Amino acid sequence: MKLRFLSAAVALTCAVHVAGAQTTKLTLDLSKATVPVSPMLYGLMTEEINYAYDGGLYAELIRNRIFKNNTKQPDGWSLISEGDAKAAIQLIGADPTNVPRNERGHAINEALTTCLRLTVEKPGTRAGIANSGYWGIPVKPGTTYDASFYIKGTGQAPPAQFGNRPPQANSNAAPIVTIADNTAGPITVSLESNDGKTVFASGTIDLIKSPYWKKYSLKLTTKTGFTATKDAHFVISTNRTGLYYFNLVSLFPPTYGNRPNGSRPDLMQMLVDMKPAFLRFPGGNYLEGPYLADHFPWKTTLGPLEQRPGHPGSWGYRATDGLGLLEFLGWCEDAHMEPLLGVYAGYSLNGDHVDPGPLLEPYVQDALEEIEYIIGDAKTTYWGKRRAADGHPAPFKLTYVEVGNEDWFDRSNTYDGRFNQFRAAINKKYPQLKVISTIASKVYPTQKVTSGPPIDMEDEHYYQNSWQMQEDAFKYDNYDRKKGPKIFVGEWATREGSPTTNLISALGDAAFMTGMERNSDVVLMSCFAPLFVNVNPKNDATGEPSGMQWASDLIGYDALNSYGSPSYYVQSMFNNNIGNRVVPVSATNLPMLHIDTATLNKNLSPQQRRGRQQKPERPSLYYVATKDTKTGTIYIKVVNVADHAENVTLDLNGAGTIVSTGTLIELKGDKPEATNTITDPKHIVPITTNLTGIGKSFAHSFSPYSVSVIKIKTTPAK
Ligand code: AHR
Repeated sequence: MKLRFLSAAVALTCAVHVAGAQTTKLTLDLSKATVPVSPMLYGLMTEEINYAYDGGLYAELIRNRIFKNNTKQPDGWSLISEGDAKAAIQLIGADPTNVPRNERGHAINEALTTCLRLTVEKPGTRAGIANSGYWGIPVKPGTTYDASFYIKGTGQAPPAQFGNRPPQANSNAAPIVTIADNTAGPITVSLESNDGKTVFASGTIDLIKSPYWKKYSLKLTTKTGFTATKDAHFVISTNRTGLYYFNLVSLFPPTYGNRPNGSRPDLMQMLVDMKPAFLRFPGGNYLEGPYLADHFPWKTTLGPLEQRPGHPGSWGYRATDGLGLLEFLGWCEDAHMEPLLGVYAGYSLNGDHVDPGPLLEPYVQDALEEIEYIIGDAKTTYWGKRRAADGHPAPFKLTYVEVGNEDWFDRSNTYDGRFNQFRAAINKKYPQLKVISTIASKVYPTQKVTSGPPIDMEDEHYYQNSWQMQEDAFKYDNYDRKKGPKIFVGEWATREGSPTTNLISALGDAAFMTGMERNSDVVLMSCFAPLFVNVNPKNDATGEPSGMQWASDLIGYDALNSYGSPSYYVQSMFNNNIGNRVVPVSATNLPMLHIDTATLNKNLSPQQRRGRQQKPERPSLYYVATKDTKTGTIYIKVVNVADHAENVTLDLNGAGTIVSTGTLIELKGDKPEATNTITDPKHIVPITTNLTGIGKSFAHSFSPYSVSVIKIKTTPAK
């Protein structure tokens, strides 16, 4: 046996090559390609984490547009006070228990209860408010932006509009206005560079003097002849004294497909390019919320933005809910995916839970109503009518509903009862739906759902290092097909690299995917998580926090640019190149890698180790083959995790007539930690070339650290 040390820099890949003397051979038996490939195998998982929606996919550019992010300083907002201006800004209503009497009555409705007051005692050159966006406002040349905001220009508090009392005659508070009130007149709205040197676009609205709120909208078109930048901010300013109140300040760039309230085009295009089959939403932890009251509030995510108060979210920042239930469904339409709905199941992250039985019933009803919103008839059902009123009369396609999220964390041991109560109600009203349990009984055998009928499908989650993912490439090969249940790998990722995954992660992903694809009669669906990360680090100067709460994500971006990790390209390669039948492949003389377990375990967190023994040996090659019975195309995927090329003979038994020139799509890099970044976005991308000399038996050398898809055209055997 010949041993060779690899040159890998990171400990986890510091493996020893056990060289085989004979040629490695992969033999495909096309006559036995009978196992169907699941048409839903690869999808997307999403939640509001890492500024995935706000400051990410959701195209809104204004941070904290309804001023509810915090109660002290208005997050994202600052005062503009130029020349000898004397001006100030203050949040009004942020702390509902402490609104001065003479400042009550500024709520627009139940959702918009906090506003920003600009006091201009002396306008100087100008005074106003500025928003810095999500780590900058992206400004592109020759582009039209839709700006809108509610404003009230008056020194007086309004008459009671919404349950708030008007100012009290006997109020002891100081009078609000001691300054000339000249609020009526033009208000300037602009996009400006942070260095103050450039106004990219500007417009005005004509503010009337009124104690009532009024919404103003305008278009801002940038000039040409400058380079796109995110070093910019949004300004609303005046040159008159007075009191100005602002709420729901919004700025949208062009969106994907020009949907109003829509998505950022570059990010949406990346998702579309992945050809995902489904979207698991709205979480993840984001479904559950830290406390019972914080779970995803689908009802208040519907309708006009004016009716969306947002909610605390689960990842340390407030969610606007601009990307609400209907927007998730629109996202599915844009990317031709089927929604896979997670319904809140009465358990939240801090351990709060609702016992099965009558107390849980309102939650079950809420889930049934949510399902009705998605698939209910537009004429005969309450929530179907509501969907139609919101602009989408046609029901959406829905096959799967998942009850809760990661209930193996449920220390109250109520999931059996909660799941069965939800399942019974869903099955009764919607017998066509399949209900997914979030306890993976194969992974957590002591916690499985034991009562009721057999489970349709269980959701398994895997966050591991590359070596573990390689080991797990075989985990479904010997799965008991008769016993079930079917598997949904609803969250998984190789977690190496930050903020986005690196090449060794992508190789671990690809190895694991060969196993899921080979066993896609068992694993019907899978989705990598998390999908998105806003890569901005913490900004000590402005106090803006980091955009990332969870490392090793699929797609990274800042306000202006975006990029795919090597893992992103693996997802894309696998999903865009897949047949409808699994082709059995047998291997001879597979080359092996050896790793010393002490080194491996030293680098694992207890959670990653999960008590299991790491096997010290792995193949360096992972593979799967599928065939499209309609076109005759064969797809062979091979992953080489070694630091050297592997020569392989490929035998195609029963392939019919083979076209000698095929296609090779190859993703590779020179070292395990090679990666893509926001400044070097295309360092590792797949390259497509022609592959000649293909026949019933042909040789191919798989590059070091590579994922390859070989596409071969055939016509059926006579
Ligand atoms: O994907 C990040 C988090 O990991 C999800 O919110 C949660 O379901 C899992 O623990």
